Amino acid sequence: MDKRRSARSRRIQRRRRQRNIILAALLGGLVIILVLVAVAVSRTGNDEQQQNQTLTNESQSTQSGETQTENTQNGTQGSSEVTAKGFSIQLIDGVTYVDGVLIANKTYGLPQSYAPGDLADEVKEAFEVMKKAAAKEGLNLYISSGYRSYTRQQTLYNNYVSKDGKEQADTYSARAGYSEHQSGLCFDLNTIDDSFAYTAESKWLEKHAQEYGFIIRYPKGKEEKTGYQYEPWHLRYLGVELATKVYESGLCLEEYYGITSEYAE
Ligand code: DAL
Ligand code: ZN
Repeated sequence: MDKRRSARSRRIQRRRRQRNIILAALLGGLVIILVLVAVAVSRTGNDEQQQNQTLTNESQSTQSGETQTENTQNGTQGSSEVTAKGFSIQLIDGVTYVDGVLIANKTYGLPQSYAPGDLADEVKEAFEVMKKAAAKEGLNLYISSGYRSYTRQQTLYNNYVSKDGKEQADTYSARAGYSEHQSGLCFDLNTIDDSFAYTAESKWLEKHAQEYGFIIRYPKGKEEKTGYQYEPWHLRYLGVELATKVYESGLCLEEYYGITSEYAE
């Protein structure tokens, strides 16, 4: 009787041991599978990161500029460019950004397809704030020319060329694809005429525009740098912080960033 019982209990113990061994093997297998899955997931993440980096570099391919450094690291075709003052130049969908700020001048044009259709909301809102502040001083500011499409600029420029000739027209009107008006980030105020400079509105803008995020884009004495004659009525939106920095520097935007404004031909 005792012998039978102990034989039975040995059998039971043997089965328990076998079950424990199987369970341990299963658990071990599971751990190995989990580790393999984790490694695979982290590899995929790295690949994606690398791919995104490549896309960013490619979207930053360059246009004409001053200094250029080719980046052929990892076999990517991307390149980066900096201005004479070390600010980054990026070309994204044909639009040039210096230090993240859209630039439209004689060197850096806009594609014909770049057509925001109107002034940016931020620009309109900043203008309204400035207009109200000016009104408190008894001054009247109004936008006489805001966003202009590529074709609108083409018509304007061609008319000026017919009237004054190309060389003269180039001193005060942008060729189609090179006007800042196509960006939706600037506007002309009040009377677009040299007499505007003598008005109280112009004098107030010369002192205060930056407080509302604007700069006088083509200042007096900077014709060689901006490529245009003095336009006291043409304001470019940069946001209060940057507009204030540019204003306080006493430089025009081209000098501030260390870029040119010259047609290639
Ligand atoms: N008058 C400015 C330069 C323009 O035509 O955009
Ligand atoms: Zn203008």
